[in-house]
Amino acid sequence: MDERIIATAEQTADDWQYSLRPRRLSEYIGQEKAKANLKVFVKAALSRREALDHVLLYGPPGLGKTTLAAIIANELGVNFRPTSAPAIERSGDLAALLTNLQERDVLFIDEIHRLSRQIEEILYSAMEDFAIDIIIGKGPSARSIRLDIAPFTLIGATTKAGNLSPPLRDRFGVISRLEYYSLDALIEIVTRSAEILKIPIDAKGAIEIAKRSRGTPRVANRLLKRVRDFAEVEGSARITDEIADRALIALEVDSAGLDATDRRMLEAMIKKFHGGPVGLDTIAAAISETRETIEDIYEPYLLQLGFIMRTPRGRVVTESGYKHMNLLYPKSDEINLFDAATDGGANPTPAPLMSVKRIN
Ligand code: ADE
Repeated sequence: MDERIIATAEQTADDWQYSLRPRRLSEYIGQEKAKANLKVFVKAALSRREALDHVLLYGPPGLGKTTLAAIIANELGVNFRPTSAPAIERSGDLAALLTNLQERDVLFIDEIHRLSRQIEEILYSAMEDFAIDIIIGKGPSARSIRLDIAPFTLIGATTKAGNLSPPLRDRFGVISRLEYYSLDALIEIVTRSAEILKIPIDAKGAIEIAKRSRGTPRVANRLLKRVRDFAEVEGSARITDEIADRALIALEVDSAGLDATDRRMLEAMIKKFHGGPVGLDTIAAAISETRETIEDIYEPYLLQLGFIMRTPRGRVVTESGYKHMNLLYPKSDEINLFDAATDGGANPTPAPLMSVKRIN
C-alpha cells in the first residue's frame, strides 16, 4: 500500500521533501482558517512570554500536520520535539521526553489517538499542571513523587479525532481541522516545489499535477518528482501538461487522482455488489485489503470526491462514481440504500423498509 505513488503516508525515500517543507507560516500555502487562527494564538503567546496552549491538529493524512507543528515551534522560537504515539510504549518513555523539555518547547505527538490509557493519564497532569507523578520502587516500599516539568506546548496530530478519549481531547485549548487543499493551493505548492527543486514547469503542467494530487501536498510533491523523471528521460527541458499527462497515465494515476487500487475498489463495488450498499469488511475482502486501510486511506478521498457515499447499510457508489468509471448508472427508478443482502449478513440490525427515489 505504501508503495502507491499516491500514498499519503510519509515514505523514507521522501527525505527530499524536507527541503520542500515550508518553515514559516508566511510560506505555508493553504489551510487559511487554521493558519489565521494559529497566527493570532502564536502572537498572543509570544507577547505574554508564555507557552502556547496545547494544540490538536486533525484531518486526513498528508495534509501537513507535522509541517504545521514544526512551523509553530519555529514561529515561537522554541525547540521542536517530534515523536509518535506508537513510539511511546512505557511510561518511562514519556517521562523522559517530558523531563527533557525546555521552557515553552513544542512536544509533537503524531497519531496521538494511539496512546495507551496509562500513558494518556500521565499526559493529563503534564498538560494541566506541568507536573508528572512517577512511582519509584516496587511493592510496599514503592512511593510516588511529583516531578515538575517546564511549561510546554503539546501539539497532537491525528487522522481520527473521534478515537481520542474525551478527557484528552478536552485538554487541548486549540483544536484545528486541516482540510483537503484547493486546486489553487495545490498549483501554488507544485509551482513553489518546482522552483526549489529547479524543475522548469509550465503553468498548465503544474495544473495537471495539482488536479491529480488528491488534495494533498505530499502527493503533489511526489508526483512532481516522478513526472520530472519522465520529462528528463524524454529529453524535455520543461514539464508541460502533455508530459505530465503521459507520465501520470504511465503511473496509473487517473484524471481525478485515483490510482489502480481506488479504481479496483470502485469496480468491485459496482460489478460485484451492484454499486452497494456494501459493508466495509466485504469490500476489504473483495480487494484483499484490510478494513483499516480502506477506511483510513482509500475511502476519505473517494468520499471527498463524492464518488461513494456512506449509508447505514454500507457504502454506495454514486452516479458520479459510475460516470468516472465509465460505467452505466443503474436505470431503476429506485435505489434501495438499505438492502442488507450485500452486507454478507454481517450487520444484524433489521433492514428498515426505506428507499430513496432517484433524482434524474
Ligand atoms: N509543501 C508541502 N506542503 C506545503 C504547504 N502547505 N505549503 C507550501 N509548501 C508545501
